[in-house]
Amino acid sequence: MMPVPIVTVDHRNQITFANARTIELFGYTREQLAGASAEMLFPIRGVGGDHLEVEERGDASQIAGVSTTQVLVARRRDGVGFPAETNTTKYTVHDQVLRIIAISDRSASQEVDRNRKELVHLARVSSLGELAGSLAHELKQPLTAILFNAQAAQKYMESETADKAELRGALEDIVTDNRRASEVIQKIRTLARKGDIELQPLDVGDVVRDIAVLVHSDALTRGVRTRFDISENLAMVWGDRVQLQQVVLNLLLNAFDAVKECAPAERVVETTVREEPDGGVRITVKDNGLGLTVDKMDKIFRAFFTTKLQGLGLGLSISRTIITGHGGRIWAENNNGKGASFHVTLPQGTGLRQGCGPQSP
Ligand SMILES: Nc1ncnc2c1ncn2[C@@H]1O[C@H](COP(=O)(O)OP(=O)(O)OP(=O)(O)O)[C@@H](O)[C@H]1O
Ligand SMILES: [Mg+2]
Repeated sequence: MMPVPIVTVDHRNQITFANARTIELFGYTREQLAGASAEMLFPIRGVGGDHLEVEERGDASQIAGVSTTQVLVARRRDGVGFPAETNTTKYTVHDQVLRIIAISDRSASQEVDRNRKELVHLARVSSLGELAGSLAHELKQPLTAILFNAQAAQKYMESETADKAELRGALEDIVTDNRRASEVIQKIRTLARKGDIELQPLDVGDVVRDIAVLVHSDALTRGVRTRFDISENLAMVWGDRVQLQQVVLNLLLNAFDAVKECAPAERVVETTVREEPDGGVRITVKDNGLGLTVDKMDKIFRAFFTTKLQGLGLGLSISRTIITGHGGRIWAENNNGKGASFHVTLPQGTGLRQGCGPQSP
């Protein structure tokens, strides 16, 4: 009658009872399960590298009634494996240890986790997509310069009076421009990559500088003047570079969108990075756009809230999850004059907590 799959297993690791839900979940008949080894249901090592503990260790009477939870790989009769959480309680009956194992199918929650990661990646790639045109422009400049210098070098080579110094100068410029282009490509690749969270001590100033390079051409194209005021020798923050870059990129693109309707001279976005009195670091992105109405202030951090034709409405929702996952805070306020400011604070050297995906609407 229990609404959860439950099996009991004796001291020899043989199944002594399986309820209807277990039969339904694994696809075996009651007769096939009775007396079978528990390894038939849990043959593969679990997430913690453990098998369902089969051998009794120590004095059973001391551990009676204690329950342990494990995440294991379970296998159905048709051979299909699935993640399962088991909660095992031990009892001693007539000097024999008996385990009651409650099983829950974790396939659905793993799927949710996977989808959440996909969504974070999708939002990041979508922001990069917005930049694609201007990034092509950003790369075109050094490529044009390389071509120009290579042609000049060819000419020097052909002339009778080849000046070695001129030739060296042209080749040095080629190397410098090549580095510049490679740097941009490297930054794009880092942001586009689909990887696991990588925690490391970070200088938040560098994170912001990397994004400044990527948005440079986009700001020019849109006629937005950007100012970056980044303190030197900032305290290190423990974080994931790509995720924090994603947050800064979205704040800047939002600010560029916010000043779109302003007169050209007023399209200004200022970014500051400062150390907080408590040793943490604060990033502020300030625009002088239309600002936020009370109604909007409430909604902007919700998933899928957007006022843009091409927007996913995921940027701020994902940012909040990322920043709270880093032990920090993100909030918005209207400026005294015009526009809005978005603040992000990150604590010095705090570990990352779990769950970096968009919040539910
Ligand atoms: N600086 C800002 N000034 C005014 N409104 C803003 C500002 N930043 C965000 N908003 C509002 O908040 C909404 C949500 O922003 P968010 O970044 O989450 O999504 P989006 O920019 O619409 O789409 P995307 O998923 O591509 O980022 C925006 O559509 C906009 O209406
Ligand atoms: Mg956005």
